[in-house]
Amino acid sequence: MKGKARSGFFGSVARRIEGLLPFKARNGFNRGLYQYLARRAGEHEDLLFWNFGFADPDSNGKKLLLTDADEKHRYCIQLYHHVASAVDLKGQDVLEVGCGCGGGSSFIMKRHLPRSFMALDQAENAIEFCNRHYSIPGLSFSCGKAESLPFEKDAFDVVINVESSHCYGSLADFLKEVQRVLRLNGYFLFADFRHRDQMDPLRGHLERSGFQFLKGEIITPQVLQAMELDHERKMSLLNRKAPKLLFNSLKYWWGTRDSKRYELFSSGEEIYFSYVLQKTNHTGLPSS
Ligand SMILES: C[S@@+](CC[C@H](N)C(=O)[O-])C[C@H]1O[C@@H](n2cnc3c(N)ncnc32)[C@H](O)[C@@H]1O
Repeated sequence: MKGKARSGFFGSVARRIEGLLPFKARNGFNRGLYQYLARRAGEHEDLLFWNFGFADPDSNGKKLLLTDADEKHRYCIQLYHHVASAVDLKGQDVLEVGCGCGGGSSFIMKRHLPRSFMALDQAENAIEFCNRHYSIPGLSFSCGKAESLPFEKDAFDVVINVESSHCYGSLADFLKEVQRVLRLNGYFLFADFRHRDQMDPLRGHLERSGFQFLKGEIITPQVLQAMELDHERKMSLLNRKAPKLLFNSLKYWWGTRDSKRYELFSSGEEIYFSYVLQKTNHTGLPSS
């Protein structure tokens, strides 16, 4: 009961921070949170991924094969695998924007075999962590902002963006940057969540930015399933390690089964999407 009351209070503080504060303050909060989590990642391997995960209820028991070390990140990895499997990444130059602590970048590098994988995040601590933690030929990390990518034009075949764009100051600037750094006919693999009222404007925005929609999926059911299956692991870590003051905000942020975030997805108020887009020659058709 006490826990419930606290959850209500701190959960609503967290939602207020995410939903009501002016963008600059919200961005500052997110930045601080990710800097804090990246510092903790050095102590807890559990923090290599910061997404809600993906579990396919229709997989007929077919499981993605993972190493023992990767097994505890199964659901977060499955979200990356779902996004990355949309196109063949073998031999491609790939950029990930918003890589966090690099768990997804290293998984894709090892499993999907691109020629090169550049992973970028604005949280300096996360990039420092990645540079210390991973040593995989072809995989590199860079600190920078999604809205002004520090790369030449036409530098990449594929841009990947997982559960990060909802934090950005300007989605329009980010999309312009993705267009700039992608080669013609390159792919933009884009997964994130939005309030249901933002879905149509988002789609319009993407189309006006010169992307062709190749595939659009709503994956909220798969994300909810992952939240359920990963609940115990998250709670065990939070119970052991989360500072009391942040406990309920972290539950909301991480989407435990009893969190407001879970409720928002299950009521349909928030929607998790996965889009496959292509940079075209603006005729609406991929050029040959
Ligand atoms: C929810 S986490 C997801 C991290 C990672 N994609 C994953 O799934 O594990 C969001 C990430 O976006 C990054 N981010 C937020 N705003 C950003 C910006 N404007 N430019 C670059 N990265 C940003 C955060 O630092 C954080 O690492």
